Amino acid sequence: MSEGVIYEPGWSNDDVDWTRFDASKVDHELLAAVKAASLVEFNARDYVAYLTRIYQEARPEAMESIRRWGEEEVQHGLALGRWAETADPSFNFREAFARFQAGYKPAHFSGGEGSVRGSRRGEMIARCVVESGTSSFYSAVRDASEEPVLKEIAGRIAADEFRHYRLFYELLTSETEAELPLWRRLWVAVTRVNESDDDELSYAYYCANVAPVDVAHIPYRREAFARAYHAAGMGLYRRHHIDKLVKMVAKPTGINPGGRVASFASAALWRILTAKAGMTRSAPRTSTNAKAA
Ligand SMILES: [Fe+2]
Ligand SMILES: [Fe+2]
Repeated sequence: MSEGVIYEPGWSNDDVDWTRFDASKVDHELLAAVKAASLVEFNARDYVAYLTRIYQEARPEAMESIRRWGEEEVQHGLALGRWAETADPSFNFREAFARFQAGYKPAHFSGGEGSVRGSRRGEMIARCVVESGTSSFYSAVRDASEEPVLKEIAGRIAADEFRHYRLFYELLTSETEAELPLWRRLWVAVTRVNESDDDELSYAYYCANVAPVDVAHIPYRREAFARAYHAAGMGLYRRHHIDKLVKMVAKPTGINPGGRVASFASAALWRILTAKAGMTRSAPRTSTNAKAA
């Protein structure tokens, strides 16, 4: 229903029509993925602090855009968290986030070093990869959800994520640093894509879907919960989401988005995702999964 609606930036939870919530339309696997996503989004302030350290001296004019971007990511966390609490009153967004933040501390968030990508250009390519991923993910959630409020929220977030992609692409193309060689651009993009399998999503999935009372007998296992997250999220995608995702990632790396390399990558990624989506049976059981069963 929200497909085709143009959502403006700068929205808050007050702009969402919560009265349309329909508990009978909640998909419990999707709910598990939304809970995890709410924690990752709400953690954006650490990332803002990191990017600020990299940009404040070289590109002071970029500071306001980066600050606004961070606030929008935090708002995504608040909206998804409220929706998840509405769909599952046993879920406590703030409590789950506190556990996630206490346990997830990548070195570059706390260190005083420069960019882990080696340059501002590398950093912007990595951001473009992330925003490509989130805009595709929330477009897929919007298209898959039958629950009207989640459909609206995902539509609003997807629109923001496309704007974030444009912001970081513009920062990349207006960069005064020397251009990176193609191999280096590809390396940054590929390593950032691979990091999507790192602790961030799997630990967020664990904190969001294993209740505090169950933590003692359901320990965190990174690979198992990464599999659970993929099982909950990957089945949402349709081929057109993947084609768009690959085109968006190709552009900042300097690959022709309409060329043969991009179309080969698109077909390969689609095969991987459809294989991963079939892993639901081996995912660990959590309270949310148990409800869905
Ligand atoms: Fe976001
Ligand atoms: Fe974003």
